[in-house]
Formats: sequence, C-alpha cells, structure tokens
Amino acid sequence: MSTQSTPIIVFGASGRVGSRICALAMNDPSFTLVAAIVRDGSALAGRSSVAGRDDAPKLVNTGEFTGFGAVDRAVLIDFSSDDGTREALSVALSMNASLLVGTTALSDPTMASMRAAAGRAALLITPNTSFGVAALSAAVQAVARSLGAGFDLSIVESHHAMKKDSPSGTALRLARAAREAGALLRDDQIVSTRGGDVIGEHTVRFAGPGEYLELTHLATSREVFALGALRAAAWLSGRAPGLYTMEDALGLPA
Ligand SMILES: NC(=O)c1ccc[n+]([C@@H]2O[C@H](COP(=O)([O-])OP(=O)(O)OC[C@H]3O[C@@H](n4cnc5c(N)ncnc54)[C@H](OP(=O)(O)O)[C@@H]3O)[C@@H](O)[C@H]2O)c1
Repeated sequence: MSTQSTPIIVFGASGRVGSRICALAMNDPSFTLVAAIVRDGSALAGRSSVAGRDDAPKLVNTGEFTGFGAVDRAVLIDFSSDDGTREALSVALSMNASLLVGTTALSDPTMASMRAAAGRAALLITPNTSFGVAALSAAVQAVARSLGAGFDLSIVESHHAMKKDSPSGTALRLARAAREAGALLRDDQIVSTRGGDVIGEHTVRFAGPGEYLELTHLATSREVFALGALRAAAWLSGRAPGLYTMEDALGLPA
C-alpha cells in the first residue's frame, strides 16, 4: 500500500459535506488539502477553508482556480449541485485529476458528460459514500435473491428539510440493487419524507405472507459521508481512466 499522501481538491467546499471533508483532510496526514473551491461570486472566497486553521488553503472561486496545472495523483472531490458537477469535471480534466462525485440527482446531460470523460480520467460517482450503505446495498441484493418472488418491496427514506432531490439518490441506488436481484419494486413504493435535520434514513422492507423483513441504515453524522469520500478518494488516486463505483473502492460485489 502506498504511504504517499493523497492530494485532494474539494469542490463545494463551503457546503455541509464539503466543509467536513476539508476539515478531515487537514487533520489526516494521509491527505494533502491542495485547494478548496467555492462558487464564482461567493462572498466566502478568501476565507480559510477550515475555520480556525490559518494553515488551510483559502477558499477560491471556480473561475480563479482554472489554470492551476496538474498535480500528480490528485483527486477532486465534488459535493455541490448538477451545475457544479459539470464545472468540477472540467476542472478535473484540466489538471489530469481523478474525480469523485458525491453530488446526487445528476441530470442526463451531466451523466453523459461523465461517461464521455471516462476514457480520459478515473471517475467515481456515488450517491452515498458511507460504508454502511454500500453494505446495505449488497445485503438488499442477497435478501432479494433469497426470498425470490412473493414478497412486496418498499423503500422509505427520510432526510432534512433542505434536501433538494426526492427520492434520494441512495433510495434509487437501493431500488436498482433490488431490481437487479430480480425483486419487483413499483416506483410508488419508494416513499420520501423531508423534515427537520434528519441526516439520512433508509429502510428497505420485504413484506410477505405472515412475515416481513426490514433492513435499515441510519446516518447519525455527516462525518460518515466525508470519511467515506476520503477513503474512496485514496483508492481512486492514480487509477486508470474509467467509471468506478463505491463498491469498487470498498472491494464489495457490485
Ligand atoms: N454521496 C453522499 O454520500 C452524499 C451525502 C450527503 C449529501 N450528498 C449530496 O451532495 C450534494 C451536496 O450536499 P450538501 O448537503 O453538502 O449541500 P450544501 O450544504 O448545499 O453544499 C453544496 C455546496 O456546493 C456549492 N455549489 C453548488 N453549486 C455550485 C457551483 N455551480 N459551483 C461551485 N459551488 C457550487 C454550494 O455553494 P453555494 O452555497 O454558494 O450555493 C455549497 O457550498 C447534494 O447533491 C447532496 O444530495 C451526497
């Protein structure tokens, strides 16, 4: 295993998840926080990317960051928005960096740009960087295969009131996992609730005659997303061009 520190650039660095990634990267010698990018025009530009840490890179606007040049084995981590992800892709390509996209609800044009770029850069796109959700996805597949037909599936997910997409990218990923394992899951059985400061809850229920089985994941801290993003970034650093998943990074079955 490499002992070199992984150079990290965070896109969406002032956001709920992006700011945690900056803070964790600054406190872990396995990573070097090279830059922290915020939206063009953001009043936060020029401030330290980690509150109270003058040694952390200053937040920089996207436009001012272009032309930074290549950094060997760098990984750009994006937790922003659909527009932001397209900008992050162009920054990553301009510096020959790998790109980890945690942003959810990516549009078809953005996904098409990603697929087109996968011949030139290592890209990992995941709606959930937590280890627990990757394990949940594998468990859902295993249960769906064991139970076979005759069980009705539903997915219920809850998030904070500020979450923009619904259903969550994670719910859609779990739905895909179940369907790939042969389970029948109707779209109207994916249910979302929004409110308060819930970080993320997902329950997959298999309801059969006389019994039901539930698998639940609860995120109790945004730290898990930041930690998972950094772990995946370390794996992605220096990889050959291609489109990768969180399962690839964690060595789990796809
Ligand atoms: N993969 C996972 O595990 C995971 C976990 C949690 C969340 N997410 C997803 O990650 C994304 C961010 O979540 P969050 O909770 O951190 O949201 P957030 O607090 O709103 O942060 C998003 C950040 O991205 C910035 N941004 C948006 N568009 C931009 C652009 N075009 N250029 C530059 N910066 C831009 C925002 O800047 P402004 O404030 O200036 O707009 C903000 O700082 C969402 O899609 C969310 O669903 C994924």
